[in-house]
Amino acid sequence: MSRIAKRRHKAKPRVFVTRAIASDAIAKLARHATVEVWDRETPPPYAVLKRRVREADALLTMVTDKIDAPLIASAPRLRVISNLAVGLDNIDIEAVTRAGIAVGHTPGVLTEATADLAFALLMAAARRVAQGDREVRAGRWRTWGPAVMLGPDVFGATLGIIGWGKIGRAMARRGSGFNMRVVYVTRSGGRRNSSDEIAGAKAVSLKRLLAISDFISLHVPLTPETRHLIGTNEFALMKRGAIIINTARGGVIDQKALYRSLKSGKLGGVGLDVTDPEPIAPNDPLLKLPNVVITPHIGSASYSSRYNMALIATDNIIAVLKGGKPRFCANPMVRIRPLLRV
Ligand code: DGY
Repeated sequence: MSRIAKRRHKAKPRVFVTRAIASDAIAKLARHATVEVWDRETPPPYAVLKRRVREADALLTMVTDKIDAPLIASAPRLRVISNLAVGLDNIDIEAVTRAGIAVGHTPGVLTEATADLAFALLMAAARRVAQGDREVRAGRWRTWGPAVMLGPDVFGATLGIIGWGKIGRAMARRGSGFNMRVVYVTRSGGRRNSSDEIAGAKAVSLKRLLAISDFISLHVPLTPETRHLIGTNEFALMKRGAIIINTARGGVIDQKALYRSLKSGKLGGVGLDVTDPEPIAPNDPLLKLPNVVITPHIGSASYSSRYNMALIATDNIIAVLKGGKPRFCANPMVRIRPLLRV
């Protein structure tokens, strides 16, 4: 073996991390690999990412990084991609799995934080918190008035949850604490009448949920099946004045249909943590409507959630570098390609 080849053989694997994350997580990773961190505020442009993966054995990505077949084709060494998210719609899992690359993600540790934000949006949209704040800042608070900024009651209202996974159920528990009547549909749109841990929560059809809910909260991943799951027809089935909350992915709602439905007065309001595209264009007509609250995709942005997500994301990579599979593996059937020694 030549000296160069020997040096390569002993060289640590290389990991590219596409944004600065908790320093403890980076330090842990650095014990097993040479780590390069893209520490700018915005993501590496696609062309830059494509160049950086050429030499990488592992990639730690964010929801803002698009991982598709052409990118994978330029990554001959890559054996694991670990997404700092529970959602994986930024990754072409089929192409990645075909190439023998494991995919890790970070479920669980962001459940409560995301449900907290979903409920905050529900309260904000119902009781016009953001709108009221905008009025005050603009100097338009003239007096207390008996009909100023009225909104629907949250307490005792019907909450419809679309997607009965961890976050959907955590949202339901919050609704239950406000004495809401909780109905839900499972991700596949079917019914699940198993005994639920949320007292009184009832499985219904999507049609029924849309017809009876005062508040509707979305908790499904974005897939070809759920893209525009809520569009013109679904808005038409909703109660007049219903409020919709989306902390899942922007693409689950047809945003043009959402605008029309709000503008016509059919929908009472909306709370969005996700839009399509992200960020939403500053001149998007939705931003002109008063009964719209939008936050910049911060569902999991609590200190502890992001810290734990960073640790899990690095653990997923370390597991593969040690010859195993990610702790939270999105493609457990993958046959991970062998380590490239040169
Ligand atoms: C996720 O985890 O999928 C969020 O959207 C990012 O925290």
